[in-house]
Amino acid sequence: MKRVLTYGTFDLLHYGHIEILRRAKALGDYLVVALSTDEFNESKGKTAYHSYETRKKMLEAIRYVDLVIPENSWEQKINDIKEYHIDVVVMGSDWAGSDRFDYLKDYCDLVFLERTPGVSTTMIKHDLGLKEAVKNEDQLPE
Ligand code: CTP
Repeated sequence: MKRVLTYGTFDLLHYGHIEILRRAKALGDYLVVALSTDEFNESKGKTAYHSYETRKKMLEAIRYVDLVIPENSWEQKINDIKEYHIDVVVMGSDWAGSDRFDYLKDYCDLVFLERTPGVSTTMIKHDLGLKEAVKNEDQLPE
């Protein structure tokens, strides 16, 4: 069984997300998604519209995704690879050309997948004028 791991925030789920998950899963048999926690995003100066728990439920509903784990830090990747017996780490092409993740090649394969053009969470927020929106997920049913 070939196990694939990828990372991201996956906020306001969109077609680009579905596409990277589909192509990541196609590289193996079992796909683990390490999902950025709200605290980790905060440390990067990012605020997701949907909470970690909501984003996790949405990812779990996608047929390509087998397991969602929390991404709490930049440093956890080697641990994740060992703990989940990962064969391939997939990154979006946003990181291609950077040697930032080269150290992972000592532990597994590292694959960069092209981003789907024309869509991103930032773009959706911008286009919908949501940049400053106040969110309230308290009213979402369990
Ligand atoms: N991704 C992709 N194609 C897109 C948008 C995202 O392949 N059009 C991939 C990213 O490369 C990453 C994963 O989806 O591997 C999760 O990306 P994330 O940063 O959560 O989504 P973005 O839409 O890029 O969000 P933002 O605009 O906040 O950066």
